[in-house]
Parts: sequence; structure tokens; C-alpha cells
Amino acid sequence: MEIRIALLPGDGIGPEIITEAVKVLDRVAARFGHRIIYTRALVGAAAIDATGDPYPEETHRICQASDAVLFGAIGDPKYDNDPTSKVRPEQGLLRMRKSLGLFANLRPVSLFEALTDRSPLRPEVVRGTDFICVRELTGGIYFGRPQGRDEGGRRAFDTCTYTVEEIDRVLQVAFRLAMTRRRRLTVVDKANVLETSRLWRERAQLMAAQYPEVTVEYMFVDNAAMQIIRQPTHFDVIVTENMFGDILTDEASVISGSLGMLSSASVGAEVALFEPIHGSYPQAAGRNIANPMATILSAAMLLEHLGLEAEGRAVREAVNTALAAGVVTEDLVREGGRSYSTSEVGDYVAAHVWAPLFGRSTSEQPNVRTVRV
Ligand code: IPM
Ligand code: MG
Repeated sequence: MEIRIALLPGDGIGPEIITEAVKVLDRVAARFGHRIIYTRALVGAAAIDATGDPYPEETHRICQASDAVLFGAIGDPKYDNDPTSKVRPEQGLLRMRKSLGLFANLRPVSLFEALTDRSPLRPEVVRGTDFICVRELTGGIYFGRPQGRDEGGRRAFDTCTYTVEEIDRVLQVAFRLAMTRRRRLTVVDKANVLETSRLWRERAQLMAAQYPEVTVEYMFVDNAAMQIIRQPTHFDVIVTENMFGDILTDEASVISGSLGMLSSASVGAEVALFEPIHGSYPQAAGRNIANPMATILSAAMLLEHLGLEAEGRAVREAVNTALAAGVVTEDLVREGGRSYSTSEVGDYVAAHVWAPLFGRSTSEQPNVRTVRV
């Protein structure tokens, strides 16, 4: 199969982790007989430096002309320390999500067996964790207007808005995903305070009638933040609005032992985008120490999204082999163990990508499936 992938390395450690994911994808292509055509494009601070725009038109065209987008990270401290700066790298990410119509962000959270002791939570709490957070990605307070300042700059305001259409389409992704899994859906909101949350709950209750096999529960976000840590195995599919999803998934990442392990898929209108959930980690940029696993696992999601399940599984198995062998970056290293560089981890994972010897293996279903919408 011929696959066109837009590569958007972005800022900080982005270029390094994308390099490792490409290494692994190239090995998949060689082993399984695919041809992958990459097109690189600028986004974030890197794009501002080159063009003045964090999401140039050229980048948008390249994404639209691809089968999938693999994205690294965005953000540069030189903009964080200047709150008056009119153009920010993050605007590129938000504009990219919006203009590509990527309204649902799927963030799987599972425990990697070999990392059980790396989680700050007790093994008996985290063992068996396997849930997906469906985060709404193009609405809510991230995009609501008005936003700004008045009273001579002494008052600031943001607005959270959601339409029925915006809520329904992401709920539908979540319900359909739940149907492919353990059929349990947790709708997370703040319906005791927020009007947008009350509309979410109303729409979820309506849609639940169409999915009688799915057990739906409603949970306030503050309680959800506690339950994710107290009993992560309780969850199967969580669906929530943009900012709650942003916060809860950073929290959930500690279950797996490192923020450097969590991958994500953003789906919506046409082309889908795959990215690690972590940021650009500027302190590590150029030092060959960042964990490339989240990006490599995002590449696995990309393959699965294109229907290449065996290929995605081969990548996951190679990642598990590396974890079991202790070939990990410093964020995951055990006391007395040695840490490996970003590129050494990528080399090791790529070298352990194997195609099934006899046709396609059907023995095991991947625990992560994305939904086409
Ligand atoms: C994420 C990030 C982004 C977000 C930032 C960089 C704008 O935290 O993808 O989770 O808040 O969506
Ligand atoms: Mg975030």
C-alpha cells in the first residue's frame, strides 16, 4: 500500500521524536511491503521563525493532501515569557485542529506490563488499566468568543460555548468507540455549575437511547479527577469537553509511568492527525534524551487507523519488547539501571518490528482502535 504522511515535527524535542517514529515506520514499510511518502511541513515556533505564521497555508495544504499527519510538539519558552506577544506557537496547533476539522481527540491510557513499578500508584491500583479518553478538540473555552481584556487591561475574559452539533458529533465517536470495547461510557462534566455541561448531559442522555448496550454514567470533573487516580480500572471510555480532557489526560498519564508514553489520535472531517500528548520539553531539545515512545505509539495508531492492524500491532509488540528489555530513556530508568538515548530507543524498537511469518496474525486484538467518523 502507498501511504502519504505529512510530518510536522514542530518545536523543542519534536524533530527528534519524529525522527525515531519515522525510523520505525520505515521498518514497518520494509517488513510489510508498503511505500511511505513523507512530506515535511512547518508548524509552531519553527513556522513563526520561518514565515511569521504558526500554521502556514502551505502546511495546511500538505496536511489535506495526505492520508495522515504525524505531529511532534509545539511550544517555545521565548513566547511563554512574553504575554504581550501577538503570535504564539500554540495558535498554530489550535488553528490546525480547527481547520482540519479534528473535533475528537482519542487518548488511550493503559498500563504497560513492564512499567508497572514505574507508576507512582500502587501496582494493585494500576494493574489492568485500559481506558480511552475522548476529548472534544475544537470547541469550548479554547475557542469561544469573546475573549480578551477590557477596563484598560485590568479585566480578562474567556468564553465557553458549545452547540448541539459540536456535542453530538463527539458523543457519537465516544458511543461508537464504547461499542467496540467494554461498552461502558463515562460522561465527564460540571453540570452542577456550567450551562454548557448541562447541554452536554442533555444530549448524552438523548443519544444513550440509541445505544442501549452501552452503560452510561455521568461524573463531575472534580470527582473524575479523583476516581482516575483512585480506581483507574473503573473506566472504559471517557468523553468530555476540551479543557477538562486536556487536564484529565495529563493526570491520567502518570498511571502509565511517564507522560512520555501517551499517544493520541485526532479524528474528524477527513485527514486524521497523530501526536504524543506531551509537549515540546524545551529543556531536553537537541540533547537526545527525550522519550520517543509516545510518538512511536502514535505512529502505531496511525497505521491502525489506515486499516493496517497487523502493522500497528507489530509496532506495539516492538515497544513492549524494548520496555521489557529495559531499553528506555531516563524518565523510565530504574535505580541502578542505565538509560538509553532517544535514538538508541528508536533503533531498538525499529529493529524489533517483525511481520507475522504466516499471513496476518489474528490471535490478539489491539486494545486501541480508532473510530472513523
Ligand atoms: C495538548 C496541549 C495543547 C492543548 C497545548 C499545547 C495548546 O496541552 O495537546 O494537550 O492544551 O490542547
Ligand atoms: Mg495538554
